Amino acid sequence: MNRKFIDLISQTYDFPQAPFEVNNGELFFHDIDLKKLIHRFGSPLKLTYLPIIGEQIEKSRELFRSAMDKCGYKQPYQASYCTKSAHFSHVLEEALAHDSHLELSSAFDTDIILKLHKKGQIALDTYIICNGYKTSEYFAGIQRMMRVGFTNVIPVLDCMTELKVYETFDADQVNIGIRMATEEESQFDFYTSRFGIRKAGLLDFYRYRIHGHPKIKLKMLHFFVYTGIQDSAYYWNELHKNVKTYIEIKQLCPSLEALNLGGGLPIQNSLEFEFDYQYMIDEIVNIIKNYCTEMNVAEPTLFSEFGSFIVGESGACVFKVMGTKRQNDRETWYIVDNTLISTLPDMWSKKQNFIMLPINKWNNEYQKAIIGGLTCDNDDFYSFSSEGMDSFLPTVTNEDVEPLYIGFFHTGAYQETLSGFGGVHHCLIPSPKHILIDKNEDGEFVYEVFAQEQKAKNVLNLLGY
Ligand SMILES: Cc1ncc(COP(=O)(O)O)c(C=O)c1O
Repeated sequence: MNRKFIDLISQTYDFPQAPFEVNNGELFFHDIDLKKLIHRFGSPLKLTYLPIIGEQIEKSRELFRSAMDKCGYKQPYQASYCTKSAHFSHVLEEALAHDSHLELSSAFDTDIILKLHKKGQIALDTYIICNGYKTSEYFAGIQRMMRVGFTNVIPVLDCMTELKVYETFDADQVNIGIRMATEEESQFDFYTSRFGIRKAGLLDFYRYRIHGHPKIKLKMLHFFVYTGIQDSAYYWNELHKNVKTYIEIKQLCPSLEALNLGGGLPIQNSLEFEFDYQYMIDEIVNIIKNYCTEMNVAEPTLFSEFGSFIVGESGACVFKVMGTKRQNDRETWYIVDNTLISTLPDMWSKKQNFIMLPINKWNNEYQKAIIGGLTCDNDDFYSFSSEGMDSFLPTVTNEDVEPLYIGFFHTGAYQETLSGFGGVHHCLIPSPKHILIDKNEDGEFVYEVFAQEQKAKNVLNLLGY
């Protein structure tokens, strides 16, 4: 029987599989030699592989183009990036370099746009979709973007009262969107999402407050199914309902021209991950097309605001196993040189899985392993590689000269925004060094240190010492 870690993985999964490969017992990610990377930059390490961001934007375009071609859909698709997934300048610059539009969610987001504008990095006709509940600072930011000349700013009403503010805007015309509140899945604590406007009052709201308005033009309807785009009765039901509402309003509102499908396209979160992206997008586009044809209504321009799908697979975290602790016959802990609780907060807060693989020692035997972080928190651990399965890692001994390194992959969305980038973290465990990896014109990797590992001085400053 083969007892090497590499045998376990290749017998359990379809492996090697993109973007992973193993050479001489060591892991490569998008052809990046991870061990070399660790030797150069140290551990722990966060990395962002920039080319994947543009590739995912192009992939979303290709999915919609193919679906639209198949059913003769006449209106365009506009890919937008949801900035809250990762606000970093390197992410937005990459998205904009691929002509992505943007979806914002807060006041500071508008400052990012103005900054990008000052640096000449964003075209004035970029669609800027302003989602979320609006504070006075957020309203002011929206007005400022319009004043400097952005022609496609679309504030999306989260509630009816927002409209009054746009009526006071210093502009001849304000193009708005409306978010339609979705019904939640049955296991949720509430029935209707707090985001958006309930369908019950939507038609009357349009009829009596917006129709024929001298300044306000309704351009977009938007919905977002929180559980994501998935082949489930719940998702299809929500899609059908929202498309029907779009058509009802479109029949009254000639200026309405866009349907924004939100985010929620899943990403590879285990080696077993299978998702037929083309099938899902084909179905979505088909449903919209068929309803519109049946009701003799012009098809909408389709928008998406994918976050995880665009940036999630660009990220990885690499840790060193500092030592092992065997606590009983069945439980061996691998203690890593950082914390999972604040470096990968979705892992404990949402029980989200990330792909976890060793970086070296793939030719060692393997054992069941629980990964423990450096904090004193009981929740600072990882013990599953895919739903319901234990995690395994190569065996290590205290005599090993070379430590074992492990990586968590496809961690590029939400982790920094949830844990706070460079702030004060649990047990004062520092944020790891963060490096950016790109490719130059000759296809060679280029590396940049985006942030050094946090220093004690920096953390103590934040704490007032
Ligand atoms: C309104 C809205 N749009 C888009 C997204 C992006 O979702 P995802 O990262 O799943 O694509 C979110 C995420 O919370 C959202 O709230």
